[in-house]
Amino acid sequence: MAAAEVRDPVRSALESVLDEVRPRTGGEVASYIPELARVDPDPLGVALVSVRGVVHEAGDTETHFTIQSVSKPFVFALALDALGLDEVMRHVGIEPSGEPFNAISLELATGRPLNPMINAGAIVMSSLMPGDTADEKFDAIHRGIQRFAGRELAVDEAVFSSEHATGDRNRALAYLTLSAGTLGSPVEVATTAYFRQCSISVTARDLATMAATLATGGVNPITRERVISEDAARWTSAVMSSCGMYDESGDWLLRVGLPAKSGVGGGISAVLPGQFGIGTFSPRLDAKGNSVRGVAMLEAMSARFELHLL
Ligand code: DON
Repeated sequence: MAAAEVRDPVRSALESVLDEVRPRTGGEVASYIPELARVDPDPLGVALVSVRGVVHEAGDTETHFTIQSVSKPFVFALALDALGLDEVMRHVGIEPSGEPFNAISLELATGRPLNPMINAGAIVMSSLMPGDTADEKFDAIHRGIQRFAGRELAVDEAVFSSEHATGDRNRALAYLTLSAGTLGSPVEVATTAYFRQCSISVTARDLATMAATLATGGVNPITRERVISEDAARWTSAVMSSCGMYDESGDWLLRVGLPAKSGVGGGISAVLPGQFGIGTFSPRLDAKGNSVRGVAMLEAMSARFELHLL
């Protein structure tokens, strides 16, 4: 006799969240990076990984997309462990900018980017990673991100070439930090490592596993490997709470109440400390660069399952 199918109630709940947001087709895929304008706008997926390493998922959780800015908190965490909080904070602040992710947003007195979640701050974090060349710095970033995800991750070379060819605004931001004395390497080294970092190819399940690694306090719950220190996990989640959704961060903290980070590839990673990580994927973005249906999914989950931390 065939075993009775056991329904996973969490999966059923995730499926109902997908059904709720599926009709929302507003927003546009990112087009300022030409290769991103070509992605399929329709995939929709959500994954949840618990601190015990149990995976629940619904929808398109194996579709690959580029990690983009969702990489930023994880590289910040790696920099914290490599250099310590004091040295990292000599180079970057931890205050919300209230400005778009690609704004200049440098502190007048110190020349530090306001936080590591905006492009200027993230490029400085990439520049601080170990190594002298872009390849060495990217290698340290890539190894770290793979440990967060618990598997090998490819780089989308077409997106990387597209970003490298069109990323002059990011180079300009890097030059401003260089002249202010906060960039840790030559501009082209930092931006090349950063463009490759943003072009790492992931799934919604990877983003959930990465967030779950912050939720445990730094141990990947699937591989059981300690990826970062407990302090780095806490500090990173704190900065995601205040700065992770750019100039939508205040609204996000009020409505959703979870540390989170979005990317223009359509992904969002969200953390419920001590409980689980969530990864969402849907490529159409709102005017601030956050996934329309990703934000809607996390708003729905926060309300329905009372996930708000405050
Ligand atoms: O540097 C950029 O503009 C992109 N590689 C990443 C920006 C991003 O993902 C902003 N997030 N919503």
